[in-house]
Amino acid sequence: MIEVDRLTKRYGACKAVAGVSFSADRGEVVGLLGPNGAGKTTTMRMLTTYLAPTSGRARVAGKDVLDEPLEVRKRVGYLPESVPLYVEMRVREYLSHRAALKDVPRSRRRSVVASVVERCRLGDVETRIIGQLSRGYRQRVGLADALLHDPEVLILDEPTSGLDPIQIREVRNLIVELGEAHSVLLSTHILSEVEAVCGRVVVIASGRIVLDEPLDEQSSRVLAVVEARGPIDAIRAAAETAAGVERVTRAERDGDHATLEILAREGQDPREAISMKLAGNGWPIRRLDLRRSSLEERFTRAVSQDALKGGRREGE
Ligand SMILES: Nc1ncnc2c1ncn2[C@@H]1O[C@H](COP(=O)(O)OP(=O)(O)OP(=O)(O)O)[C@@H](O)[C@H]1O
Ligand SMILES: [Mg+2]
Repeated sequence: MIEVDRLTKRYGACKAVAGVSFSADRGEVVGLLGPNGAGKTTTMRMLTTYLAPTSGRARVAGKDVLDEPLEVRKRVGYLPESVPLYVEMRVREYLSHRAALKDVPRSRRRSVVASVVERCRLGDVETRIIGQLSRGYRQRVGLADALLHDPEVLILDEPTSGLDPIQIREVRNLIVELGEAHSVLLSTHILSEVEAVCGRVVVIASGRIVLDEPLDEQSSRVLAVVEARGPIDAIRAAAETAAGVERVTRAERDGDHATLEILAREGQDPREAISMKLAGNGWPIRRLDLRRSSLEERFTRAVSQDALKGGRREGE
């Protein structure tokens, strides 16, 4: 439903988006994560045809964003980062105006508007002037607007920003519900939100994809936590050479003990190899267990590796 192939957007010497490729199928909710300025909004604006790519291609709901922008717009519901609303209009009036612009037949407009008002819990404010609404309500109007033409694909730029906790939960439920039949790409800074609603996460940093993986149990990498008595540097070096170990991600000393957090290679359980290595060196093990790495750890690791490489490279 969304296929992005080496999409790039350059502003002068700065590559806001530098060759991004990913895809999302029908029935998939994909979370687009990344630090401020990473290129999320720029990517979404290209996918919704509001910004022309410098190079690369993208197809949304089977249509090319460059060749058939109008066909793409018919099939996409877009909630922009800052919602451009006609502030002097009343909510219902605005939504029927938008429905007309989106070619919803006149005979269906009333029921379509009523249905999005219902879905986005706008009943209490439908006769209010938009300019007088609180930020959260305006956000809901933007979401209602995005749903009006029953699009196949939803592209939502920080859909829950500015909403209260109850509304956040309702919008998340709505996204999960929509995700069953549609394909949804949403950006957010709230990692727990991604864990709650997304089946897949794409992390972008400095305009590049640094992580793209499904969010199921198997895909979260295993971390071994080991506590042993002995010299921390030597323990660390030994653990790093044990079979199945990718690297030591954290090492702390506590008296004569060392606690290490060890990232396993994909699909491997390095506990036995670690235990043999340490015991063989005469360092007694107090504790050795496994836990899954959290999305926060994976996000932080991916983004900080990008920062180590120097972030966005100018003129490349
Ligand atoms: N019109 C523009 N002209 C020049 N540079 C721009 C323009 N729009 C965006 N940029 C730059 O492109 C980069 C990506 O911006 P973008 O808005 O896509 O980030 P983002 O990931 O959405 O960030 P945030 O989390 O803050 O919303 C930034 O470095 C930004 O300064
Ligand atoms: Mg943004």
